[in-house]
Amino acid sequence: MPRLTVTKIAPALGADISGIDLHAPLDEATLAALKDAWATHLVLRFRGQALDDPQLLALSRLLGPLDPPGPNPYGKPFLEAFPEINVISNVKVGGAPIGNLGDGEAVWHCDMTYVESPPRAALLHALEIPPSGGDTFWSNMYLAYETLPDATKQRIAGLRAIHDATYNSAGIMRKGMKEVTDPRQAPGAHHPLVIRHPDTGRAALYLGRRRNSYVLGLDLADSNALLDELWAHATQPEFTFRQVWQLHDLILWDNRCTLHRRDSFDPEARRVMHRTQIKGTPVAPAFEAA
Ligand code: OGA
Ligand code: MN
Repeated sequence: MPRLTVTKIAPALGADISGIDLHAPLDEATLAALKDAWATHLVLRFRGQALDDPQLLALSRLLGPLDPPGPNPYGKPFLEAFPEINVISNVKVGGAPIGNLGDGEAVWHCDMTYVESPPRAALLHALEIPPSGGDTFWSNMYLAYETLPDATKQRIAGLRAIHDATYNSAGIMRKGMKEVTDPRQAPGAHHPLVIRHPDTGRAALYLGRRRNSYVLGLDLADSNALLDELWAHATQPEFTFRQVWQLHDLILWDNRCTLHRRDSFDPEARRVMHRTQIKGTPVAPAFEAA
């Protein structure tokens, strides 16, 4: 039996995993136990696991084929030697950013939902952290869906929304995009507001990001009112957990049934994270369109 220990972090989601060493290859039983804990807790945290890049890649590949990072604003991979690894950092070398997202707030989002098959998971490993700030929050979208009023559930069953490709969560325009003034014209995938999780079969609210989102078929004002209501509901503190980073924390999250956001931090401080993501499948609706 694997000796892995699972300890809940918050009532809504998140668990600490201890009793395993992620530097060594995991045996099948341990990997199965890990996947089980992941399906239950949605976000797993491993503390004190100083992984180098090849180790981070090897661990990530146990969860499925890697999905390359989305295009960053600079048009080339941050790590020439490991293009599958994305760097999340505010550090600049010779004026050039070594990573994405800077030091400002990253607003609530789900990663890369502007594509047809967004990543199923991401792993974020803390290599340098600021003395304070830069905390990351996750929110449970199964819970968000399940706690909606019945009338809202009925209203959104079968509805789809545009997931804008223009801006990243730090508000930076993605390469090759142009400004969007009308969300109805936003480029990006159309996904159901309620999805069926391909592994657990559970229904989850699927919002992507608020900016330039638009519920297809509604008047713009009605779409905005509905989205504001859904976003306010989905990001209530009781559905979330707050990650105060320690050096060499590694976080694995399910990108289909959670949202995340990040606090800003002191621009003079350094924050460096290495990140991978795992390929997903086309997003499946929980309910057929009416
Ligand atoms: C990400 C992300 C937040 C953070 O890597 O997708 O949103 O805390 N990161 O750096
Ligand atoms: Mn993100």
